[in-house]
Amino acid sequence: MSENTFKILMVSGPNLSLLGKREPKIYGTDTLSDIEKTVSDEAGKYSMGVTAFNSESEGDLIKFLQEHGPDADGVIINPGALTHYSIALRDCIAFLKCPVVEVHLSNLHAREEFRRTSVIAPVCDGQITGLGKYGYLGAIRYLHEKLSS
Ligand code: DQA
Repeated sequence: MSENTFKILMVSGPNLSLLGKREPKIYGTDTLSDIEKTVSDEAGKYSMGVTAFNSESEGDLIKFLQEHGPDADGVIINPGALTHYSIALRDCIAFLKCPVVEVHLSNLHAREEFRRTSVIAPVCDGQITGLGKYGYLGAIRYLHEKLSS
C-alpha cells in the first residue's frame, strides 16, 4: 500500500455525534462513524489520510486545531451550531495556513434564518451546504486538486 501523501483533518462539532438518531429527515441516517469511513475511503483513493476528531466542546475543537492544524495539509470542518456564532473558532481557523473547507449536511439557506449566517465561512476556502455526505466527498476532491497543483 502506498504512503498517504496529504494529511487531512476532518473536524466535527457539537451534536454531530448524534447523527443517525438526530432529526433523520434533515441529517439522514448515516452515523458520524459511517461518514468518517466514507470520507477516509474516498481520501485513500487520492493518497490522502484522514484524522477524524469530534467534540461537543468549542474549547476542545480549538485546542485540537491549534495542536494539529499546523501539521495538516487540509481541514474539512463541520462546526455544527458553532458555525453561527463562534468567533473563537473562526479566529483559530484564520490562524491556519492550510486550505479549509466548511461542510454542512443540511442546506443552511433552506432552514431557519439564524442558520444562514456563518461566521466561519469567510475564513475558509469555501462552504458546501445541503449535499449530505457528498459535500464531504466534494471537499476531498477539492483539497486533492488544490494540494496537487
Ligand atoms: C449542521 C447545520 C447547523 O446549523 C446545525 O447546528 C448542525 C448541523 C449541518 O451539518 O447541517 O449541528 O452543521
